[in-house]
Amino acid sequence: MGYFDERKNVDDYIKMVEDYEADELIAILKKHLPAGSTVLELGIGPGKDLDLLAQTYTVTGSDSSNVFLDLYHEKHPSADLLMLDAVSLETERTFDCIFSNKVLHHLPKPDIPRSFSRQRELLTDGGLLMHSFWYGDKEEEFQGLRFVYYTEDELLNIIGSGFEVVALERYKEEEDDDSFYIILRRT
Ligand SMILES: C[S@@+](CC[C@H](N)C(=O)[O-])C[C@H]1O[C@@H](n2cnc3c(N)ncnc32)[C@H](O)[C@@H]1O
Repeated sequence: MGYFDERKNVDDYIKMVEDYEADELIAILKKHLPAGSTVLELGIGPGKDLDLLAQTYTVTGSDSSNVFLDLYHEKHPSADLLMLDAVSLETERTFDCIFSNKVLHHLPKPDIPRSFSRQRELLTDGGLLMHSFWYGDKEEEFQGLRFVYYTEDELLNIIGSGFEVVALERYKEEEDDDSFYIILRRT
């Protein structure tokens, strides 16, 4: 059972991010992805990003935690939701963009190449990925929840071929330059 499969951990996380606004990342995505495109979000958590993405795009939310998915479904009964693991991504559907915000750092580092190659298979021609990461080179575990920090170079090396970099920039989540986002286009 994963950390976010427990209701208490989900409730604590929701409380922790209550005041957090994610609109900056989505404003950047909008510069690169036309309105009306189909977007799959990995790891929706409480669904703040999904709500924002839905204002511009045709969205599908996903998470590996049924607790988060059920809570979102209660508030948005007609939302298009999938229970998906961000590595195996077991779906036949395709999307113009796959987005995640602070999710892929929970994967074991050796699973990152498989996740990106599965994501590539789910993208339409010329489709985009946008993901955010904590910047750094350490690895931590907090109550069984893994946090893998990346530098831009290390991440690009691990992802390998099949994409071109559209945008890559550090930003501040809690402290200056503690995070970066990457936008990749399927080649
Ligand atoms: C730190 S939260 C971020 C949630 C949301 N994106 C946000 O910005 O508030 C991480 C989310 O990733 C999900 N997650 C963790 N590991 C996952 C995996 N292997 N596949 C899919 N989702 C995963 C968790 O259930 C949780 O919803």
